[in-house]
Amino acid sequence: MDKISVLISQEEIELRICEMADRINRTYEGKTVHLIGILKGSVFFICELAKHLTVPVTMDFMSVSSYENATTSSGRVRIVMDLSDTIQGKNVILVEDIIDSGNTLSYLLPILESRGPASIELVTLLNKPDRREQEVAVNDTGFVIPDAFVVGYGLDYAQKYRNLPYIGVVEIEKGENDE
Ligand code: IMP
Ligand code: MG
Repeated sequence: MDKISVLISQEEIELRICEMADRINRTYEGKTVHLIGILKGSVFFICELAKHLTVPVTMDFMSVSSYENATTSSGRVRIVMDLSDTIQGKNVILVEDIIDSGNTLSYLLPILESRGPASIELVTLLNKPDRREQEVAVNDTGFVIPDAFVVGYGLDYAQKYRNLPYIGVVEIEKGENDE
């Protein structure tokens, strides 16, 4: 069992997401926003955010892979599952769990921009600027965090811990047979 210490509590997360939703409500007044969640990490965030939006909302999801059960980026990105609807003419808000190296978003944003949305912005729950390899224009960040591997609120370590209601830092334990 890995040891996990709380970095950001559920209460803090949910308060901050309310603020992020308020900003979107003001920015997009009179418009419909099309939320795009990047699976699987952004699921908890996008649901909580959507619950606090008062502007009309549509939602879609896509799945991109850049990590293979590891805590370090492979640098390679591929679309595992594409959107089901067109984004042409829509006010797209791309919703991410965390921006780390920036590789995923710097690959994905130009692809989505080329599909002709009316507008596109990026919101992320967490941001680890210290680890950036490629610059990404972020419109709103929930929390800037230090360079630590975090889990919970959608984020996983080897597919585990996504269901924790808080953000925690996992102290990766070595197995008995590890050096
Ligand atoms: P990037 O391409 O390096 O910016 O990272 C993209 C993806 O890596 C994120 O959407 C997460 O799924 C994953 N990731 C990055 N840092 C962490 C972390 O600390 N915990 C869990 N997943 C992470
Ligand atoms: Mg992700």
